[in-house]
Amino acid sequence: LNVNDCFSIARLRELARSRLPRGVFDFYDGGAEDEVTLNDNCEAFRRLRLLPRVLRDVSQVDLSASLFDAFMGLPIAVGPTGAVGFGWRGGDIDLARAAAKHGIPYTLSTSATASIEEIADQAPGRLWFQAYILQDKTRLNALIDRAEAAGYEALVITVDLPVGGKRERDLLNGLGFPMKLGYRNVGQFVRKPVWSLEMLLKKPPIMPSLQGMAKRQVDRTNMQGVAGTNYDPAFDLAALRALRDRWPRRLIVKGVVNPLDVDAILDVGVDALVVSNHGGRQLDTGLATLDALPGILQAVNHRVPVLIDGGIRRGSDVFKALALGASGVLSGRATLFGVLGAGYEGVDRALTILGDELGRTMQLCGTPTLAQIDASVLARPPGSHF
Ligand code: FNR
Repeated sequence: LNVNDCFSIARLRELARSRLPRGVFDFYDGGAEDEVTLNDNCEAFRRLRLLPRVLRDVSQVDLSASLFDAFMGLPIAVGPTGAVGFGWRGGDIDLARAAAKHGIPYTLSTSATASIEEIADQAPGRLWFQAYILQDKTRLNALIDRAEAAGYEALVITVDLPVGGKRERDLLNGLGFPMKLGYRNVGQFVRKPVWSLEMLLKKPPIMPSLQGMAKRQVDRTNMQGVAGTNYDPAFDLAALRALRDRWPRRLIVKGVVNPLDVDAILDVGVDALVVSNHGGRQLDTGLATLDALPGILQAVNHRVPVLIDGGIRRGSDVFKALALGASGVLSGRATLFGVLGAGYEGVDRALTILGDELGRTMQLCGTPTLAQIDASVLARPPGSHF
């Protein structure tokens, strides 16, 4: 399988799967416990059916959107994903460069494998920095100050990870970060010699969240450990307020699904919300994000833009999110599979696929501009609560 043969996100996933040792692929692909939420995020988009309009002139289709008064080539931002460099060396920069090419924002994760400054230098564009609330507030504040100095447009605070999710594929594979060869994975690595050689020959990346820690500490910190000891389970609204006071630019809260949380978060003065369940990697059996979206939109009542992520694998999924009232989406695994399969070209491909499918869906639904997409093209199957 070659990147040029990948005509869908599903094919890019297959490409990534064919390149990576099983345990490494599972880390990116998997979710928490029984993966009910992981799968339901995708199923929710399939359950929602379209009711297209016809006999409208759809010869000109326009995918351009706007968020925070700035242009976007697509109604998509690349969402934060950690540990990318363990699958494709330099993958964070590839993601950021491809996002800039498509005129969309890129979000650098706290657990990314490139530094805040490296991304700003090598992939100039609209940059967002995603922060987890670290227990060590001095280190957290230093990261935020660096993002400000490097010109990042927005700070994304992820609030659905007070503790790490129980990811059973990782437990089964015995995978930790930084990766070490062990009896359980050596066979998997030998089966993927191209990836293994590349990983051995190039310097291992270091996560911004671990930068500034003693090397001894970093070595002892695996992914479960990062979540267990590094993140702050005591994080609350007061801590969010402190971040609001510190960060002068756009502040986005990611990981909201319950409408009861909305008022208190908006009172802090945030600029946008992301309906997200961390791609089903945290709480399992939580509601699919598309199913959570209408409740959040109702509670927000147009006060701020609402974005959504989780399960977006098709341009029509982006279309459905917009039809329900979202202002845009974050891509998670869709662009991640692209980078893991083929680096920059893979991400470019993923964004091209999503844009092409979105444009075609808009034409087939008789809504050639984003502003025309609304609930009038959604079918309400019996039993649906939309
Ligand atoms: C993530 N996600 C995530 N979110 C975040 O705020 N900070 C992070 O470091 C990460 N890391 C991360 C790694 C991997 C491998 C995955 C798959 C996901 C969650 C991510 O931003 C997003 O919410 C989900 O990926 C969306 O779901 P889909 O589109 O992947 O189904």
